[in-house]
Amino acid sequence: MSNNTEHFDAWIRTPFVEMNTALEEKYFARENRADVDGVGDGIKKQILEDGRAYIIKLVAEGNTDEGFDNAFDLLGNLGLYMAALRRHEMTNPAREQKSPHQEASALGMHIATSLGVTPRFATSHLSTHNYALGGVQKSFTSLKDEFLFLDYNTCGILAFKRAADALIRILPLGVSNPASLTLLGDAADALRAVKKFNEKLFGDLDTQRFFFCVRPYYKPYRVGRHEYRGANAGDFSGINEIDLLLGLCRANDPYYSQLLVDKMLFMMPADQASLRACMSKRPLLDEFLDCAPSASETWFQNSAAAFLEVCALHGEIAAQHHDQLVEKFIAGPAGSITGAHLDQVTASGPPLPVLLKALEVLRDLRVAADRSDITTSHTQIERLRGLVS
Ligand code: HEM
Repeated sequence: MSNNTEHFDAWIRTPFVEMNTALEEKYFARENRADVDGVGDGIKKQILEDGRAYIIKLVAEGNTDEGFDNAFDLLGNLGLYMAALRRHEMTNPAREQKSPHQEASALGMHIATSLGVTPRFATSHLSTHNYALGGVQKSFTSLKDEFLFLDYNTCGILAFKRAADALIRILPLGVSNPASLTLLGDAADALRAVKKFNEKLFGDLDTQRFFFCVRPYYKPYRVGRHEYRGANAGDFSGINEIDLLLGLCRANDPYYSQLLVDKMLFMMPADQASLRACMSKRPLLDEFLDCAPSASETWFQNSAAAFLEVCALHGEIAAQHHDQLVEKFIAGPAGSITGAHLDQVTASGPPLPVLLKALEVLRDLRVAADRSDITTSHTQIERLRGLVS
């Protein structure tokens, strides 16, 4: 790590966190917690200028390519800084044609283009690739609820990855291989862990703190001329690998393939590659249905039942995400705010009702719901259920 990269990292880990936390406490004490204008202007200016001083040196250094991990990590630090400028309204894509933060944009575009990712901070920076020092991981603030959110997101993502990993190992074995039954059990265990982490998050996270002090760091912002949507906990390939490998979502479905295209560059290159690999694989649901003539055999009864359990768990988690997490922490509190602040609630950018509808479609694909307006795998899942006694 170069000296400039190291100094910027140290700033991001301490003074930056302290300044954001101080601002959050000021905003949170206000009657209108969504209105951050004219509050803590001295601190905002200091974040802007101190960060910029580090970035100017990094732009001048030019060569940030000291191995992927360092470059990706630096992009994350830069992204945290730019997301904070957005959160504190020192930039807002709705009122600008291009980012007013030129040096930060230049550095972001330089690194991201060389890596093949979006030039903003992504979920992995604060989850699976959040390198902790002395027991403290990176964050925007030191608020308890931000750490709760980050830690449970990370554990949930890691468990989804374990499930995807188990499922992909079935492909070269075939569904009738006895080892595949063990792998289906591993996938189910991993998904039960996701469910548990989501339950903890649902129970422990404070709605007001999350909505007003954590979520605003996940808004879209511009880098150069382009606006990039906010990061969300879903920007890793594991969940889509599970969708595709199970056969609950199809890569040739126009809605679902659009989603994959849109999220591709928000994922790390390794995730992009494994997602691409899954897009050309035959789903396990189809493999089981092909084996229908063997339905009376013990292997089929055991493995198809285990497969259906994995599908059911994946659906339950999708319903839990939509009906509990999104409802409690976003849709509910959004009801209490109005106007311009409401327009900017979602991390992905579209108005809240549009976003909620899209998430509902995803939930229904994953629960294989019986819907006439979209194609789900309801019929195939029911057919397989009918073969298992
Ligand atoms: C407080 C908890 C959470 C809330 C309020 C929440 C909310 C949201 C929202 C509103 C979106 C849509 C995009 C956006 O505007 O950001 C989204 C996307 C997503 N979230 Fe969460 N989320 C939470 C936690 C999690 C966790 C713990 C996971 C899994 C580890 C997760 C997985 C996903 C996925 C995979 C997507 C992309 C869409 C999809 O494929 O379903 N979320 N989330």
